[in-house]
Amino acid sequence: MARLKLKRFRVKPPAPEVLAHYVRVYDPRELYHHPDSVLPITSESLFGNDHPLVLDLGCGRGEFLVAQAEDHRDLNFLGFDWHVKSLWAATQAAHQAELDNVRLIQVDFRLALPAMPAGSACEVFMLFPQPVFQHNRTSEDPLLESTLRQVQRVLAPEGWFHFVTDHAEYFEIKRALIEQSGLFTVSNESQAYEGGITWFQRFWETRQIESRRLACRKV
Ligand SMILES: C[S@@+](CC[C@H](N)C(=O)[O-])C[C@H]1O[C@@H](n2cnc3c(N)ncnc32)[C@H](O)[C@@H]1O
Repeated sequence: MARLKLKRFRVKPPAPEVLAHYVRVYDPRELYHHPDSVLPITSESLFGNDHPLVLDLGCGRGEFLVAQAEDHRDLNFLGFDWHVKSLWAATQAAHQAELDNVRLIQVDFRLALPAMPAGSACEVFMLFPQPVFQHNRTSEDPLLESTLRQVQRVLAPEGWFHFVTDHAEYFEIKRALIEQSGLFTVSNESQAYEGGITWFQRFWETRQIESRRLACRKV
């Protein structure tokens, strides 16, 4: 089945004060060249408290993030995405649910992770990333070994990394990468994803394409 055309959906831009509350924009050049000079990406700086921080890498329209934030008010939820309209939709959802434990960052998460302190997140999710296979496009792959190492670094001891995809071949490639890295123990694997419904999960599963899931614990 052809991959989805992500950018084709309608969403109104949120009011400026709502955007200002929920969304931070990071300059990729600043992040790359001067990661120490940007506003630190921590619970303290983004939420003004020290609650444990959960990351959603490529949060899209934020269905998972917002549902989890409603269920776990004692945790902070931070979504990363570079697609502006998806972040608008996530912002509207968080605002409608009157959530103050959600923030969103418009950025390439591969650049943002190195700017986070080690051990600053309790859990990291990467749900239904676009798989990349072509050799001339590997730099676009959302989960190269360098990003996997950053995920492991930002996780607190024994923190969890959840990787879910609809794509069988991509799943096997990333499972091999994660297992061979020695950075995680893969302690759980299931075909059906029980952790919350994302837009892409619903799309694939209603077409009888199952979700493949890895739950990986930081060594
Ligand atoms: C296929 S969508 C999945 C969205 C959501 N996780 C879901 O399950 O519905 C992948 C998302 O990741 C975002 N994305 C991909 N690579 C990214 C990167 N390097 N930095 C930030 N966002 C990225 C895309 O903009 C898109 O919103």
